[in-house]
Order: sequence, then C-alpha cells, then structure tokens
Amino acid sequence: MLDKIELAEKKFNIEFEGISNLEKLEEVRIKYLGRKGIFTELFEEFKQLSKDEKPKYGQVLNQAKTSAQNKYDTLKSELDKSESEKKVYIDLTLDGRNIELGSKHILTQTLDEIKQIFKGLGFSIYEGPELESDHNNFEMLNFPADHPARDMQDTFFINDKFLLRTHTSPVQVRLMENKKPPIRALMPGKVYRNEAISAKSYCLFHQVEGLFVDEDVTFAELKGTLVAFLKQFFGDDVKYRFRPSFFPFTEPSAEVDVWWQPKGKEGRWLEILGCGMVDPNVLENVKIDNEKYVGYAFGMGVERIAMLKYGVGDIRVFFDNDKRFLKQF
Ligand code: DAH
Repeated sequence: MLDKIELAEKKFNIEFEGISNLEKLEEVRIKYLGRKGIFTELFEEFKQLSKDEKPKYGQVLNQAKTSAQNKYDTLKSELDKSESEKKVYIDLTLDGRNIELGSKHILTQTLDEIKQIFKGLGFSIYEGPELESDHNNFEMLNFPADHPARDMQDTFFINDKFLLRTHTSPVQVRLMENKKPPIRALMPGKVYRNEAISAKSYCLFHQVEGLFVDEDVTFAELKGTLVAFLKQFFGDDVKYRFRPSFFPFTEPSAEVDVWWQPKGKEGRWLEILGCGMVDPNVLENVKIDNEKYVGYAFGMGVERIAMLKYGVGDIRVFFDNDKRFLKQF
C-alpha cells in the first residue's frame, strides 16, 4: 500500500509539472482527485484494511492527497487569474474610436453674429425674464387693456397678471426704469406666441430688441444703424426696404423687409423687423423726461433672419433637432 501511495504521488507530481492551461489541469484533477480518481480509489482500498493496518497508512495517504489538492488549488487560481486578465487585454494596434464634436446651434450662431455686429456699433447686451407681467409686456408699452393691437400677439397667459412674453420689448421697459439715458442696448431672447404651428410660425422663437435713448436721436440714425447691420450681416448687395407701419410703442413706426430669392423660384419681400421712434407715452411711463430725451427702438426675428441667410424654408426645422439639418452649419 505504501508503494502505491508513493507511486501515485510521484506520477501526480510529474504530470502536474507539465500543466500550462486550465483544460489540462482539469484532466489531471479528474484523473487523481475526481470521484473515480486514483487517490479516491486508494481511499477505497484503505477502507478495506484491517484495524491494525489502518494507522500505518492513513496519515501518509491523507498527506499525499492534501498535498495534491493544495497544488491543484494554487495552480487553478493562478490560471483563472491570467485567463481573466486575457479578457481585458487591450489591442493597442486598433484604430481609435471617433469622438464626435458638437457645434453651436445655427440659431446660437446667428444670435452671436447679430450681437457681435451691434457691439461694434456701440450697443451693450441686456437680458430680461421670459415669464413677464402683463404690465411690462403690454401696458407700459402703450397697449392698454382691450387695445386691439393686443390681437397682433396671441398670448400664452399664466393668469390674469402674468404671461410668457410675446416680444422682447418689455426688456426696454425694465432697462429704462433702471437706467438713466444715454441708453444704447441690445436685448436678445426667446418669445412665445399662441399661434398655429406652420412652416412660417412656431409657438417659440427668438427676437433681438434694440434701444437707443439720448438727446437729439433721429429717425435717420435709426435707419443708418439698421442699414449698417443689414450690410454687415447679409453683405453689401442686400436688397431691403423700409415700409411705414404701426406699433403702439413707437411713433412713427416702420417695418423692414429683405428680398428673398430662392434659387429657381420667384422671389419675394420678407419682413424681418419692426422699428420706430419710442412713443413719448412710453418714455413718460418709465419716468424719462420726454421733452429732453428721444429714442429709437427696433425688434427683429432671429429665425426669419437665419432663414433668409441660409435659405431655410421652414421655421420648424430649427426646433426639430434633426442632426442631418444641424450638421450643415
Ligand atoms: N415687438 C414687436 C413685435 O414683436 C417688434 C418691434 C417693433 C419692436 C417696433 C420694437 C419696435 O422695438 O420699435 O412684433
């Protein structure tokens, strides 16, 4: 029996030496330590021995099996470890993954360009809230309650005092209430109208408001400033016209149209802004001396201007966030 145990141990050690992978290790485990393995069989034989013989072999057999088991356990965990390391192996020769860089939305780019041009003309940038009072959005701008001009701006009311601003003109009011003339300001922002959505109108759009209040401000200066803007923005050959109009908060008032010429189609005039001399009533409302000071103001639609410049035929695409459209700019 002793010989058999020694032989099994030797054979195990020799076979064990040559193991380099998990499959081979498993084979050796089954052969020696499995249910029908050599060591297990030796234990069966051991059970048959007489009481006197048992003590002679028990310890030797136990040691031989435990030593084999320990060797197996150690090698198993080593091989498992290197196997899992293989799985996170990084192939440094692979091509890198492409990181897509985003870009500014075309409306943001257009707004940036408008701001830049007006900064060059001496305007500072101011902003106001999108949730506005009826008082600032209408009343202070000379639209009394029930004035028919309110119909021009379909309004999202929050309650009877507050609304989503329908234009950026209330920022003029906030500014004039808080600043003494001279004021030369540009006020960009989002505005909201409760209108049916179509290719031409959306419930949300952007405006840029301009205001200049000082002594001796003239309509000619207003015209000069807007023409300078149009030429810088659209190019020197831009075709434009000033057309008389009406706004409660300006007198006289005008609208500016730019000629839109889509390729191969009939061209037409597109209205891009409203403007005028600040109505003396508005100056009085904000407690600016309307005998001493005069002002001009204008408000332009940013989407309209971007549509003209980039030949976009439908306002809704600005808000769809379709990458195929956005990627073009
Ligand atoms: N607030 C007007 C609108 O949304 C546009 C406008 C017209 C603004 C004349 C002005 C202005 O400042 O002077 O339709």
